[in-house]
Amino acid sequence: MTSTAKNQNHSLIEVSHDNIQAIEIFAQLHCDTFRAIQQQEWSTSDIHSLLLSRHTHAYLYCDGDNPIGFCVLSIVDTEAEIITIGIAPTYQSKGHGTNFLKSTLAKLHLFKVKEVFLEVRQDNMKAIELYKSLNFKKTGIRSKYYQTLDRKKIDALTFKLEM
Ligand SMILES: CC(C)(COP(=O)(O)OP(=O)(O)OC[C@H]1O[C@@H](n2cnc3c(N)ncnc32)[C@H](O)[C@@H]1OP(=O)(O)O)[C@@H](O)C(=O)NCCC(=O)NCCS
Repeated sequence: MTSTAKNQNHSLIEVSHDNIQAIEIFAQLHCDTFRAIQQQEWSTSDIHSLLLSRHTHAYLYCDGDNPIGFCVLSIVDTEAEIITIGIAPTYQSKGHGTNFLKSTLAKLHLFKVKEVFLEVRQDNMKAIELYKSLNFKKTGIRSKYYQTLDRKKIDALTFKLEM
């Protein structure tokens, strides 16, 4: 039987810049997830550098004790940007992304965020469907914004959610 995310025990763990073990787990998940869609993965030092900013927050999404997802948020006053978000390939399409994004938006609500922005590759249908299902609205296109690992240029779509 295929299990869905709805009937399992999930939590978010905040990753701080001095938690090297969590940063390594984050980097491994990011690598597995983005390599699978031909996008640049981040190293532990990329993630560590991002976390030095006071505006940046990173979370691991755990299924029980098992970290299976990750995100990085930038929060400035009442605006936030989802810089990256992902669920490890073997756990995708089971409702985890939806649960994770809802929990992330609940965190942003606690920070009194009113607007959430993100961009997504125009051919990333799974992510686009996820954002639309949670009421993100398309606001524009950035021409040839992404470059795949095999150097193809692909447009980005920009989305915004009013909280
Ligand atoms: C995008 C991502 C986070 C979604 O997580 P997920 O766990 O796969 O998503 P869910 O199972 O919650 O599904 C969310 C919606 O995506 C769509 N979806 C799920 N699987 C899909 C598939 N195989 N094909 C097309 N759409 C799909 C559905 O509309 C689904 O909503 P529904 O279940 O209410 O119909 C995940 O697929 C991922 O990490 N992808 C690679 C990294 C990435 O693209 N990150 C975002 C960059 S902007």
